[in-house]
Amino acid sequence: MEFIKVNPQHEKHIALIELNRPKELNALNRQLMLEIRDALRELDEDDNVRVIILTGGTKVFAAGADIKQMANATAIDMLNIDQFSTWDQIKKTRKPIIAAVSGFALGGGCELAMTCDMIMASETARFGQPEIKIGTMPGAGGTQRLTRAVGKVMAMELVLTGKFISAEEALEAGLINRIVPVELLMDETLKLAREIAKQSPVAVKLAKEAVNNAFNSTLDEGLVFERKNFYLTFASEDQKEGMAAFVEKRTPEFKGK
Ligand code: CAA
Repeated sequence: MEFIKVNPQHEKHIALIELNRPKELNALNRQLMLEIRDALRELDEDDNVRVIILTGGTKVFAAGADIKQMANATAIDMLNIDQFSTWDQIKKTRKPIIAAVSGFALGGGCELAMTCDMIMASETARFGQPEIKIGTMPGAGGTQRLTRAVGKVMAMELVLTGKFISAEEALEAGLINRIVPVELLMDETLKLAREIAKQSPVAVKLAKEAVNNAFNSTLDEGLVFERKNFYLTFASEDQKEGMAAFVEKRTPEFKGK
């Protein structure tokens, strides 16, 4: 891996992916996105991993798609490269992914964070979709996920002006989970990851799928989908263990079975 570092066992059941292209502010070139895709595929299949953290480190999350790589491309080059197919793996990953964002999360960087399931931000985090300033527009879900997260008028303002918002504004708008001091970003992200990693991996997977389904269905369809996944948890040993542990007043030990 040239542009990311991956540690499948950063901590028990918690994997860490760190973007590692600091001189270019972690700009997301094609190679880096392929590496993220491959890492996520492997971590999703690794039974020891229950939660994945994706971070750019403490200085910058990612300053967007690599403008230098795209600058002279034609529409047909872009079509043939099909760069966004690599993004589909992030969406397909069944284990929860937490983005830990410090510094700029712009353009594709903001889209990358929004494609994750939760966003922890440091007080230095800045979010934006500045593609309009370079004569284009978001292409990796910015107009869709941002609008669903913060609502139409704010998404319009960000996408049409390219302005950045602070961590506080992002929190107020519902884009991120919380803000922590930069030196505590990884500790606090790990705390959240641990809370999830100690639950039943089967139930977590099914619950994540059901929450995401809310964006693709009517309420009635979503409720039917949710109910089926709820029933399915009763096929797991983890559900028996969880409820038995409650009755016996002990801590459950989930195995992902
Ligand atoms: N692509 C390629 N290189 C980038 C980059 C990007 N998105 N963002 C920063 N860099 C490079 C700069 O060119 C510079 O390289 P050199 O040292 O070789 O000149 C280096 O990273 C440091 O950047 P700056 O000197 O510009 O740093 P700064 O602190 O002055 O400014 C910044 C930081 C505000 C983030 C500014 O770099 C910037 O505006 N970057 C571009 C942001 C942007 O427009 N992102 C959207 C990209 S398009 C997209 O993402 C499409 C999509 O939907 C998928």
